Amino acid sequence: MADGLAASGRFSTIHRLSRSVTGLDLEDEASIAAAAGRIADGPAPVLIFVATGVLHHGEAPERSFRAMTAEHLLRDYRVNTVGPALVAKHFLPLLPRDRRAVFAALSARVGSIGDNRLGGWHSYRASKAALNMIVRNLAIEMARSHPQAIVAGLHPGTVSTGLSEPFQKGVSPEALFTPAASAGYLLGVLDGLTPGDSGGVFAWDGARIPA
Ligand SMILES: NC(=O)c1ccc[n+]([C@@H]2O[C@H](COP(=O)([O-])OP(=O)(O)OC[C@H]3O[C@@H](n4cnc5c(N)ncnc54)[C@H](OP(=O)(O)O)[C@@H]3O)[C@@H](O)[C@H]2O)c1
Repeated sequence: MADGLAASGRFSTIHRLSRSVTGLDLEDEASIAAAAGRIADGPAPVLIFVATGVLHHGEAPERSFRAMTAEHLLRDYRVNTVGPALVAKHFLPLLPRDRRAVFAALSARVGSIGDNRLGGWHSYRASKAALNMIVRNLAIEMARSHPQAIVAGLHPGTVSTGLSEPFQKGVSPEALFTPAASAGYLLGVLDGLTPGDSGGVFAWDGARIPA
């Protein structure tokens, strides 16, 4: 995403915040607050993009409720829900009030409750459904103070990364995006969103995903 934003030439400054390079760990609120404090010294950001997430981490996503463990449920919730929520807590106050500004977080289609026909992946699905609720809540609150702000969740499609690697077998080559291709689609989706779309979750092709 950052490469796509840089290539667009539309942003004078892009801050690439990560655990490995800049020490922003979603499980450490102080590191999120410190990162926001550094950004606050510069021009107001017009796009905050949260590209993090976890699906498997030494353990596969659950195929049955019998496989659920408290640690797995809480781990996905900490990274996929609490992490973006805390990024919002510290970064939304930096958005300008007088211009269009966007806060977007990568969610997943499987976080849709209405669209869930397959089941499974309990921790991941639940953490993304909760993220989608946070997105909706943020949108409602931001609309009061920042009428031009847009808060959105995004489904990037199936993207060839370490996260999807164990699950790519049944995916046709044209449905498996490179990170660069998915980022290009998502930037197009972001460009098309208006404040009236705020609070929704949108797929890479711009289609709204049901709550
Ligand atoms: N790939 C897909 O097919 C697909 C489909 C639907 C939705 N998504 C969503 O898209 C997002 C990105 O997924 P991806 O495919 O790019 O996965 P990925 O390649 O595994 O990247 C996940 C990123 O999250 C970061 N991260 C994890 N825990 C963190 C923490 N505690 N603090 C800071 N950063 C942390 C990782 O940082 P490190 O490099 O430091 O580990 C990594 O950069 C996720 O939200 C995922 O649910 C992906």
